[in-house]
Amino acid sequence: MTSTTADRWTEPTERPDVTVLDTLAAFTARLDAERRSGRTVGVVLTMGALHRGHAALITRASAECDVVAVTIFVNPTQFAGSTDLAHYPRTLAADLEVAASAGAAVVLAPSVDEVYPGWPAPGATTVSVQGPAGRWEGVSRPGHFDGVATVVVKLLSAAGRCRTYFGEKDFQQLAVVRRAAADLSLPVTVVGCATVREPDGLALSSRNTRLDVDGRAAAPVLHRALLAGATALAAGGTRDDVERAMVETVASEPLVALDYAVLVDADDLEPAADLSAERSLRLLVAATVGPVRLIDNLDPRRVR
Ligand code: PAJ
Repeated sequence: MTSTTADRWTEPTERPDVTVLDTLAAFTARLDAERRSGRTVGVVLTMGALHRGHAALITRASAECDVVAVTIFVNPTQFAGSTDLAHYPRTLAADLEVAASAGAAVVLAPSVDEVYPGWPAPGATTVSVQGPAGRWEGVSRPGHFDGVATVVVKLLSAAGRCRTYFGEKDFQQLAVVRRAAADLSLPVTVVGCATVREPDGLALSSRNTRLDVDGRAAAPVLHRALLAGATALAAGGTRDDVERAMVETVASEPLVALDYAVLVDADDLEPAADLSAERSLRLLVAATVGPVRLIDNLDPRRVR
């Protein structure tokens, strides 16, 4: 374990089976050594506050790769304001338990200054993905995907050749990461993993802990809206019919303010123009529940 003094990410871990690193150089060296020994590497990038959704990615990576590394880094450049960033939960000790139990052998938990030397002075280079980043979250959260793509490229560049696991929960992020990895010829295979949900349909998210009791009771309306959209599509509805079904469902819940509810082509995330069976489609929804912004999505043709 490497350490710097007065850095809260370097608290000793109770898990002897996990190596906690705090520099990109040490991360690269460890994963290079694993590959030199003939082992395949799986990487799961996270912002911590790990829950069963993250654990599912780590478990899948463990099943498919010899060594799994998890990064825990609350990336300041993907947050618009300091408030959201300040509210982001930080639970490193518990995260190490979750990561180790799901099969991770290495955790990288770097400081902000390690990832962005000279922070808060901005770096001169930003990874900016056009195409899939242009709509929806890209409009509602300007600059968000630049922050995501930049940190993902930094961390995956440090990781080197690997399989890397991302959740479909953040469907547009997955598309942005796939595009950046392809366009920049990163030596990684990006694997998309199904969304893990609560029994009432609410997609697991670190932000769910910020919902109050009433907000938590209202939040599953996002999933119900997606199901209503899927039902409308299955009944032969047009894109307008499908989107109206989603909007009306969300409107039935007064605590929830809709941002968008759309039917898109799953490949380019543009509004779906062709609903024929050979096209891959996706329903996307975003809404705020009190102060908490939630997103969700569904393949309308794969509803259980
Ligand atoms: P974070 O929100 O911590 O999510 C880390 C990974 O876990 C992402 O790939 C996300 O899609 C996945 N995930 C979250 N909730 C999930 C759920 N309910 N089911 C399945 N997968 C889920 O996404 C980020 O962090 C950051 O933007 C990051 C990529 C780490 C860059 O900073």
